Amino acid sequence: MKEQSESSRRGFIKKLGAATAAVAIGSNVFADGKHTGAFAYLKRRGGIGPNDQVNLALIGAGGQGSEDTKVALQVPGVKLVAVCDLYDGRLADAKKRWGADIFTTKIYKEILNRKDIDAVIIGTPDHWHQQISIDALHAGKNVYCEKPMVHSITEGPAVIKAQQETGKIFQVGSQGVSSLGNEKAKELFESGVIGQLNYAEGFWARRNPVEVWQYPIPDDASPQTVDWDTYVSNTHKRPFDEKRFFRWRNYTDYGTGMCGDLFVHLFSSLHFITSSYGPEKIYAAGGLRFWHDGREVPDVLLGTFDYGQAKAHPAFNLSLRCNFVDGTSGTTYLRLVGSEGAMDITWDKVVLKRNSTVESEDPFYLEKLKQAGGAAPGRKKMLPPEEITFEAEKGYLGGPYDHMNNFMTAIRNNGKVTEDATFGYRAAAPALLCNDSYFQNVPMHWDPEKMVLKKS
Ligand SMILES: NC(=O)c1ccc[n+]([C@@H]2O[C@H](COP(=O)([O-])OP(=O)(O)OC[C@H]3O[C@@H](n4cnc5c(N)ncnc54)[C@H](O)[C@@H]3O)[C@@H](O)[C@H]2O)c1
Repeated sequence: MKEQSESSRRGFIKKLGAATAAVAIGSNVFADGKHTGAFAYLKRRGGIGPNDQVNLALIGAGGQGSEDTKVALQVPGVKLVAVCDLYDGRLADAKKRWGADIFTTKIYKEILNRKDIDAVIIGTPDHWHQQISIDALHAGKNVYCEKPMVHSITEGPAVIKAQQETGKIFQVGSQGVSSLGNEKAKELFESGVIGQLNYAEGFWARRNPVEVWQYPIPDDASPQTVDWDTYVSNTHKRPFDEKRFFRWRNYTDYGTGMCGDLFVHLFSSLHFITSSYGPEKIYAAGGLRFWHDGREVPDVLLGTFDYGQAKAHPAFNLSLRCNFVDGTSGTTYLRLVGSEGAMDITWDKVVLKRNSTVESEDPFYLEKLKQAGGAAPGRKKMLPPEEITFEAEKGYLGGPYDHMNNFMTAIRNNGKVTEDATFGYRAAAPALLCNDSYFQNVPMHWDPEKMVLKKS
């Protein structure tokens, strides 16, 4: 036992040395052709050239769509030309923010019909992602679709098919996968520095009403200012309900609960870092404990996921938890645990920790010990660093910028993006199946490679 731990310690130090050297050579570690995920490969084609302006439109101009657009406009050579939303107030805000000359409409197909638009951002609630993505791809647009890629497990294959048929660039919006933090975690994971992966976990704690989806409702919200009929045209028809429009995350017709909102980010990062296709078994537990405001989804949720052995990784378990009634609030993390250490991963930081209980079998130390007639009581040992923090340089523009920049670069060079429709579906599927497990009270079985549900 003693021997094993110390040889692990030495292995750790050796690997750590390798990993640190890899840091020193920076992006060269990705130049071996194996790490295709985070970058666009440069190839020429007709259409938009490397230096051409990309004309952009936003469909769904709420919080995240507007944020994505702000980031897109930081990428050189991107121009916003049109905005679509179903609520008057959002269209008025868009003109105030981006200029009175942008084209605005409540009908997304008017955006897709315009020949001058190269790319669209889809920032609508989840139940519109699939249809608008497919229509946009077939209209010849490149698409940046917010996560989760789809609203239900059955919707994914049609988006993959549309992307393959049209050959357009399609990127799903879990920005973390393009971040320096995720890239560093991937590099460290592949260097073997945490040993054999056996467990991963992610956690969110929230308490603030707005953070748990009680968004403010505008004073002028009414059927006159909101195109409610279009909003519900692809789901259950109901009379106008301002909460169902402005607080859509709480209702299953439009949102995907904690799993589609938050777990999906961690699946994206975890799959990017480990090159995993996803779990085979998914089971959920939880309940509505506190926010009895008419919501249809739990406010405390635990998801457990079994990842089978794959080419890229050994079998391991994942535990994801989300608590919207957590008085401590504000905690979020993703942790990968291996036989030799663990990593805490964010978009701009990776904290690498090694096993702290190691006994020395260093020959020099053992010789000294012998000379001293055995273990000198209380004698201290030489220990490697317990923890190393990799942090992004000051001025790093962040995962959202990198993700959008990768999208725009891929459009200009007919390249690849990390989070295409297949990746996006593999990240969304376990999240959506976690909801299904919760509501049906059964474990769900999934074939992550073939992307099909298996019988229980
Ligand atoms: N990547 C991230 O970090 C991140 C963060 C937040 C939200 N999101 C995702 O972004 C999407 C939007 O979330 P949000 O918080 O911005 O919601 P939001 O309610 O602030 O915005 C959604 C907007 O879409 C509009 N809309 C609804 N149906 C439409 C339709 N058919 N056509 C055109 N516009 C329509 C609404 O009027 C609203 O303005 C969701 O899918 C969410 O999961 C991603």
